[in-house]
Amino acid sequence: MALADDAFRIRPSVRDDRRAMHALLRRTWKDAYGGFLERSLVLGVLTGTVTLEGDWRDGFGRCVGEWIAERGSRLIGLATLRERGDGDGELEQLYVLPSSQGLGVGTALWEACLAEARRQQWSGMRLWVFERGPAVTFYQRRGAVFVRRSTARLGEHVEPLLGMRVAL
Ligand SMILES: CC(C)(COP(=O)(O)OP(=O)(O)OC[C@H]1O[C@@H](n2cnc3c(N)ncnc32)[C@H](O)[C@@H]1OP(=O)(O)O)[C@@H](O)C(=O)NCCC(=O)NCCS
Repeated sequence: MALADDAFRIRPSVRDDRRAMHALLRRTWKDAYGGFLERSLVLGVLTGTVTLEGDWRDGFGRCVGEWIAERGSRLIGLATLRERGDGDGELEQLYVLPSSQGLGVGTALWEACLAEARRQQWSGMRLWVFERGPAVTFYQRRGAVFVRRSTARLGEHVEPLLGMRVAL
């Protein structure tokens, strides 16, 4: 039986996915952040010519899982989960290709991360999100609450970040 056009699957990433994952980040960052960050900053961070700094990475530990969503052989989403030293985990990144957004892919990746976070017996899962970005509501509707503020420094530019947490 043929799969529906919008059918996708979630699987752990492998080394051969790296190039496609980077391409997905480029495409998704430009779309999601291009509305409030200068294009040169977004591209600069992605190509390594603009530094991205801040204290939000404090407490990040080893990567415990990385998942991709794919439709056929096309990579359409990715998520990365890290350990923290304080009993929580950290959703380091969650991105879905613009043309595949709003179809349940992000929710499926979110749930894959939550399942692993529970398996790790963490108390909560944290994440950072650009306050001006499009994803704050997505996380709120999935039970994440505001924890603290910080900033990301992209070169000379300072951008507000919201720290959020979902209890497990
Ligand atoms: C936020 C994001 C991961 C959600 O993934 P998704 O596959 O679009 O989400 P789903 O289809 O599973 O869920 C749809 C929900 O997202 C919302 N949504 C749809 N398109 C969206 C978009 N372009 N950006 C943000 N949220 C969107 C819908 O309103 C819907 O909300 P609800 O279910 O709470 O009512 C994805 O849209 C994305 O990558 N956005 C841009 C990049 C980004 O900001 N990533 C987060 C970095 S911290």
